[in-house]
Amino acid sequence: MPYQDRGSFQEQVDSFTNGETSDEDLIAAYTATQDYLAQLVAAKRANPTDDVLSDLTNSDLTDEELKGIALLLLVVGLDTTANMLALGTFALLRNPERLATLRADPALADRAVEELLRYLSVAKMFMRTALEDVEVGGQTIKADSQVILSYNTANRDPERFADPHVLDLRRQDGGHLAFGHGIHQCLGQQLARVEMRVAFPALLPTLRPAVPADHWAAQAATLAFFSQARSSPCNPGGWRPAGPEAGPASAAHRRAAARPSSHATS
Ligand code: HEM
Repeated sequence: MPYQDRGSFQEQVDSFTNGETSDEDLIAAYTATQDYLAQLVAAKRANPTDDVLSDLTNSDLTDEELKGIALLLLVVGLDTTANMLALGTFALLRNPERLATLRADPALADRAVEELLRYLSVAKMFMRTALEDVEVGGQTIKADSQVILSYNTANRDPERFADPHVLDLRRQDGGHLAFGHGIHQCLGQQLARVEMRVAFPALLPTLRPAVPADHWAAQAATLAFFSQARSSPCNPGGWRPAGPEAGPASAAHRRAAARPSSHATS
């Protein structure tokens, strides 16, 4: 996607994933996104550039299929990683001891990324349809019935993870389900890992919260099944008082804080 289009694309996507938009605006945003992707596919067909979408125009995929793939990659590849970076930074800044551990030992970064993936589980739930009768945990799931897979619950399973609600950057019991499992396991997981392994060590040495942690708020956007950081007030200078002088982020905090949140970050 051309760099200059990213802001407007993200705004449109946010409109139909944030769970707060009216039906009318949601349909308008979704239609605008579809129109934009149609133009993008046409542009890649006419003038291929060095990217996945251009490569895929060399296949027998139709324009509709290319639009669908572009939407999937651009939407799920954006919100998930962006929210992991924002909420991961938030979780570390709220846990100064963990942050100090990571700052003192940057070699922990890879393991810290895996633990943050488990702990935050930003992609929480997905659905499956049973193709045949299947028994899970002593329960029979009948063929054709739908089930919800709760990856965040699995990632906090006390039978699988010791002290599951603790953010433990030295945790040894790996094998989280933050990227799902099986044939639909996340296609972009290695890209996401690379982004986080680069971004966290770059962000953390100097970043400080701009307001005290209890003024922060996270919101679970149930429509998109993703946790979203609505605003994350940080600055490189240190603590800054909350209140009007804390800047535009404060209003967003208060709105977000007023809403119930099912997202646990401590
Ligand atoms: C931290 C970041 C990410 C998380 C936590 C995450 C999580 C997930 C999860 C849990 C699934 C499984 C869905 C299911 O069970 O049905 C999934 C699927 C998928 N992810 Fe990610 N994802 C991330 C980043 C990305 C990125 C960067 C891309 C692409 C650029 C991406 C592309 C996909 C695609 C295409 C699928 C569907 C795979 C399929 O159904 O076969 N993801 N992701």
